[in-house]
Amino acid sequence: MNRYRVCMNSNQQTVGDVMKSIEDHFDEAVARLQAILRIPSISTDPTHFADVRAAADWFDREFRSLGFECEVVDTPGHPVVFAERKAPSANAPTILYYGHYDVQPADPLDQWNSPPFEPVIVDDENGGRIVARGAVDDKGQVMTFIEAFRAWIDATGDIPVSIKVMLEGEEESGSESLEGFLDAFADRLAADVCVVSDTGMWNGETPAITTMLRGMVYLEAEIRGPGHDLHSGMYGGAIANPINVLARIIASMHQDDGTIAVPDFYDGVEDPLPHILDQWRDLGFDEAGFLASAEISAATGGETGRTILERTWSRPTLDVNGILGGYTGAGAKTIIPATCSAKISCRLVPGQDPTKIEASLRAFIEAGLPKGFSVAFISHGVHPAVVVPADSPWLAAATAGLAEAYDAPAAVIGSGGSIPAVGDIQSKLGIDALLVGFGLDEDRVHSPNEKFDLRCLRGGIKSHAGMIGAFAARSAD
Ligand code: BES
Ligand code: ZN
Repeated sequence: MNRYRVCMNSNQQTVGDVMKSIEDHFDEAVARLQAILRIPSISTDPTHFADVRAAADWFDREFRSLGFECEVVDTPGHPVVFAERKAPSANAPTILYYGHYDVQPADPLDQWNSPPFEPVIVDDENGGRIVARGAVDDKGQVMTFIEAFRAWIDATGDIPVSIKVMLEGEEESGSESLEGFLDAFADRLAADVCVVSDTGMWNGETPAITTMLRGMVYLEAEIRGPGHDLHSGMYGGAIANPINVLARIIASMHQDDGTIAVPDFYDGVEDPLPHILDQWRDLGFDEAGFLASAEISAATGGETGRTILERTWSRPTLDVNGILGGYTGAGAKTIIPATCSAKISCRLVPGQDPTKIEASLRAFIEAGLPKGFSVAFISHGVHPAVVVPADSPWLAAATAGLAEAYDAPAAVIGSGGSIPAVGDIQSKLGIDALLVGFGLDEDRVHSPNEKFDLRCLRGGIKSHAGMIGAFAARSAD
C-alpha cells in the first residue's frame, strides 16, 4: 500500500497515524454505532416522528463533540442535520458529505432473529457483523466518515480538508423536504464535491465507486368500486370486485418478455454503450453469490435476453411493493370489498422523464377500470436517474484514498438503487457526487436481519480517512 505525506499545522503527519488511531479505537466506534442504532428513526411512520428527531439530535451532539458547528434544521417533514468544520489551510478543498439518519420500517418483525432496534454483534467467518435496522442503510455508513473525521483529529489535531455534512431524515420516504432545504442553504452548502456513502462495495475485498443510480416514480393507487363491502353471494357475479380489477390491471403491466406495457414507458431509454457493457462483463459478476444473497435459485425477473447487471443497472422496472384490501383476518369472510390499493414503484434509468412516466402510469390504471369504478392516487415522489462523471479528478483522488484501505483497486460500477438527494444536489447546487459505499449484497438492506460487517465498517472508516488525505493532497498539487 502506498503512503504519502500531507502537510498540516507545519507538522508532517502520515495517513498511517490516522489508520492506527482507527485500529486503536475501533471498539469505541462500534459502541457509538450501536448507540445510534437503538433509536428507531423510521421516517415514513408518523408514530416514530419523535424518534427521527432524537436521531438528528444524537448526530448533532456527535458533531459538536468533534468541534464542528452544527444545527438541526427544521423542514416541513423531518429535520436535516447540517455540520461544518473548517480546515486549517485556506487552500484546502471543501468536501460536502451526505448521508441519511432515517431508516426503513422494520417489519415483518417476526422474521428478525433479534429485535431490530437492539443491535447485536454476531460472530461469523468474516470477522463479525452488527445486526440492526439501519446497520448498513445508512447509519453504519454515515459513521464511516464521522469516525474518519474523529481519527484525523485524534492523530493529527485537525482535518486537512474543510468539511460540511448534510444528514437527511427523509431519504427512505422520498426526500420530500430536501429540495426546499437545498434552496434555503444553497450558499452554505457550496463545496468542491459531494461524498455519499449509501451504496455498496463490489465484494467484501473490493471497494467500489458507483457512477449510476436509478431514479424512481412511486405511486399509490386506491381502486374504489361499490360504496361499501358487499355480501359476495348477493352481489358477486353482478358487481365487479375491486381486488380482481386491481389484479387484472397489475397483471397487464408487464408483457410476457418482461417488458413494461405502460405506453411511452421506454421513451428516452438507451442501451449502455458497448464499452460500458464490456466493462461490466470484465467485472466478473458472482451470480451464485447474488442468488444466495436473495435466497432463491434463479433470477427470472425483468426483461429476457439481458444479464443481471444490465437488468439491475441499466433497465427500468415496475414493481408492486404492497397490496391492501379485503378481508385478511382469521378464517373466511365472504365479501366483495369496496376498495383496495397497491403501492407501485418504477425504477428509472437515464433518459426517462419521471413526471411523464407518472402520468402514463396513472392513465394506464384509469384505462383499466370498469364503468362505475374510480381511482385515487397518492404520489410518493418522482426522481430522475443519476449519472456521475467517471473521469473526474475527485474520482481519481478517491481511488487513491481507497488504496490506503484495500489491496484490490476500486471497481467502477452501476447500481439499481436510488438516492434522490444525489440528483437534487447535482441540479440545485451544481455539485457532482462521489458515491463510495461499503454495503454488500448480502446485507439484507430493507429486509429483516439487516447487517453491516465489522470488516466493512473498519474498511469504510479507513477508506474515508485515506480519501481525506488524498483530497487534501489535491490542494497541494
Ligand atoms: N441506500 C439505498 C440506496 C441503494 C440501495 C443504493 C442499494 C445502492 C444499492 C437508499 O437508502 C434507498 O433505499 N433509497 C430508496 C429511495 C427511494 C425511497 C426513493 C430506494 O432505493 O428504494
Ligand atoms: Zn434504504
